[in-house]
Amino acid sequence: MPRTLDPQLKRALTERVRYYRELGIYDFYQRPIAEATANSVQELWPELRDEMTPRSKAAVAVDEDELFVVPKPEAGAGDPAAALRMIREDLGDCTRCPLHKQGRKQIVFGVGNPRAELMFIGEAPGADEDQQGEPFVGRAGQLLNNMIKAMGIRREDVYIANIIKCRPPGNRTPERDECETCSPFLMRQIAAIGPKAIVALGAVAAKTLLAINAPMSEFRGHWYDFRGTKLAVTYHPAFLLRDPRQKKETWKDLQMVMKELGLAVPAKGVE
Ligand code: URA
Repeated sequence: MPRTLDPQLKRALTERVRYYRELGIYDFYQRPIAEATANSVQELWPELRDEMTPRSKAAVAVDEDELFVVPKPEAGAGDPAAALRMIREDLGDCTRCPLHKQGRKQIVFGVGNPRAELMFIGEAPGADEDQQGEPFVGRAGQLLNNMIKAMGIRREDVYIANIIKCRPPGNRTPERDECETCSPFLMRQIAAIGPKAIVALGAVAAKTLLAINAPMSEFRGHWYDFRGTKLAVTYHPAFLLRDPRQKKETWKDLQMVMKELGLAVPAKGVE
């Protein structure tokens, strides 16, 4: 519904929305119209106040949809595979965070069935993934493959991605701003695929997706609601390589996922 907005505010707001679009962010939280006022926009992004002064007296009619309801590029895609291709194209040769100039060889977008019922989300590409352009292809990937096989499914049946798509130097833990910059593209991949369940591998994936700072002992063993999709947390395969005793616990987590997906639970666990 058209409302009146200070033209300077409108310009600043348009710029801000364009900026977020370039970052791959298309979804904005909007308060109900009745609650919203021109000032509430400034409450949402207080820094806009600086971009607006001195305020112009003239107000212009603004259709909120014109500003906020911007369809994602993949909105018109006929199927998840096409949507994923569009998201990949939108990502381009990404330079949105400093990792692009810190030795990454290539972007590691994600791999698997675009219609997967199950998604695994890890932390960040390592050296092997950076080299091959595919997530989880190194030693941790071999173990993830075993985990998937133990569930009675194939790697090609699931979709595998990471919180961030570029290798951090020396395999360090991703910085918070790297996760925040990169994860909107992952959110769009999840929305395009529409899995029945997501498994977050390790604490970095769990903390980023759930925006909760908790230890693994608290994350594991139950379902979370992630934007309407069930999400479970288990140990990262790289951790299991260091502490294989935790494979037993991981198998419990995977059994919970299998039950949810209606998969028969074999007696044998993760090896
Ligand atoms: N570790 C991850 O978290 N992701 C990969 O792709 C490889 C190792």
